[in-house]
Amino acid sequence: MASERVVIDPLTRIEGHLRIELEAEGGVISKAWSETTQFRGIETIVEGRDPRDAWAFVQRICGVCTTVHAIASIVAVENAIGSNPPEQARLIRDMVLGTQEVQDHVIHFYHLHALDWVNVPSAAQADPAKAVAFAQAIGSKWHGNQLDRFTSVKETVAGVVASGQLSIFTGGYWDHPAYKLPPEANLMAVSHYLDALEFQRSMIRVNTVFGGKNPHPNFLVGGMACSIDPNASESINQVQVDQIKGWVDETLAFVRDCYLPDVLAVMGVYKEYFDIGAAQPNFLAVGLAGATYAGDPATSRTTSAITGGVKPGLLLDGDYATVYPFDPKKISEYVTSAWYEYGAGDVGVTPDRGETKVKYTGPQPPYTWLADNPKYTWCKAPRYDDKVVQVGPVARVLLAYAQGHARTKELVDQAMAAIGFTLPQLNSTAGRILARAIEALTSAEILANETFPTFVKNIKGGNIDVFDATKWEPSSWAPSQSGFSIVEVARGNLSHWLTIEGGKIKHYQAVVPTTWLAGGRDAKGQQGPYEESLANGKHPLVRNDAPLEPLRTIHSFDPCMSCAVHVLDPAGGEGFTVVSE
Ligand code: MG
Ligand code: NI
Repeated sequence: MASERVVIDPLTRIEGHLRIELEAEGGVISKAWSETTQFRGIETIVEGRDPRDAWAFVQRICGVCTTVHAIASIVAVENAIGSNPPEQARLIRDMVLGTQEVQDHVIHFYHLHALDWVNVPSAAQADPAKAVAFAQAIGSKWHGNQLDRFTSVKETVAGVVASGQLSIFTGGYWDHPAYKLPPEANLMAVSHYLDALEFQRSMIRVNTVFGGKNPHPNFLVGGMACSIDPNASESINQVQVDQIKGWVDETLAFVRDCYLPDVLAVMGVYKEYFDIGAAQPNFLAVGLAGATYAGDPATSRTTSAITGGVKPGLLLDGDYATVYPFDPKKISEYVTSAWYEYGAGDVGVTPDRGETKVKYTGPQPPYTWLADNPKYTWCKAPRYDDKVVQVGPVARVLLAYAQGHARTKELVDQAMAAIGFTLPQLNSTAGRILARAIEALTSAEILANETFPTFVKNIKGGNIDVFDATKWEPSSWAPSQSGFSIVEVARGNLSHWLTIEGGKIKHYQAVVPTTWLAGGRDAKGQQGPYEESLANGKHPLVRNDAPLEPLRTIHSFDPCMSCAVHVLDPAGGEGFTVVSE
């Protein structure tokens, strides 16, 4: 049987534009190319600007991951100028990061990914009483598991199906044989999908209190822009502290009682996906989700209270017991397969001197196939010590497990016993989904039991300072200074790098989690993690006209393409021109 070409474009239910080109034969995928077809450009926009303003620009790298770029930026600037934000400001940033991360994971599972596993029209066939029993059987203590609620959701789904217009569920591969959940599980999941919509709106209010609004909250180099005064109406006061406590507790309850049990149940049914979708068995993380470093973790302080004793490190070549030390100087980016050019040619360039020089050499759209060209994407290819590494929840969970982080180990061991898989199988499509839910619970627990109570205790003790003014004025800075930050955010390891000269940004680079994962081939021909997870004759593709299986695997990485390319529409671009050949 000859190999056939399959194109998935656009790959939907993600942020931004991703195209996957495949060659498949005999029901498996032989070759894969990950192609970021959108072009943006924020790194060049901030050049020449006041570094104290950079956060407001780079936060617009993404409409989903807004806060994380702002925090990475202010921490990098603080690293460069030597600013030292007070403890309360750091705790607020930890709460902002924690809230964003858990909300992101919940949205990813229910609203972006669940429909790859949950068959919506099938829910119309379910017996609501049996769905309640199913929820009880999987240990879901969620208060939404009620007969009247499930009955009402079933009637809604049945009405939508009967109308012949599936609305937002149009275009799903609902008749695909790879859907395996019973109707009752589908009904429960659709009901939780709707609950999660309400819930994600509620929990992100934490960030509107600390940042004034969401998305794109307000931040400040040297601290936070929100003042604390228990007795003043215009500050963070007692009323808001009580509100935040309610949202934080609600967050923990949802993740513990609904999200994690749902993931365990769904992935238990799709257990074969612990053997599908593995990428290179190398993992990089600087700690638990939310871990934040100003500069090199080996020599500089962490600006986060979230460590849990987990240190930065790497796991290499499938050995998940040996933690290798992390050296940020070993990060580089290739443009071998990306539409950029480097002055030094086809080599890995470290982000402290990285370039964003655009050179489009692809075909004029509309095109049918990009992968015949050596360059086929806007996404650079980051490498660590020239190795392809994975970042994200699996990296963090494996690193925490290797270092004996008790709660992570307990949750992973419980999941392995319940479903029946081994630790190396976390490097898989199902493993990514499970690791994300486990980490959402540890993050929600840290938020509710550690970060928020410490913040409140400090206020009670009179500690309300949120700003270090000593380095605010550029006259207090060295004439030339560089800095960087490393933050563990929802999709993985994020670093921002900059050089300041004469009070202005001379050079700015961001190395983003999705860039690590979605990047293409490098100078040695090594594939990026998305590509590796699909290619080499290991990954199923039963129907070329309904590529549900590769959709499951790519979605399991939680792609955020706006983050990955962080470059502006050329029509509104500044500081560069597009060269077309
Ligand atoms: Mg970049
Ligand atoms: Ni993003």
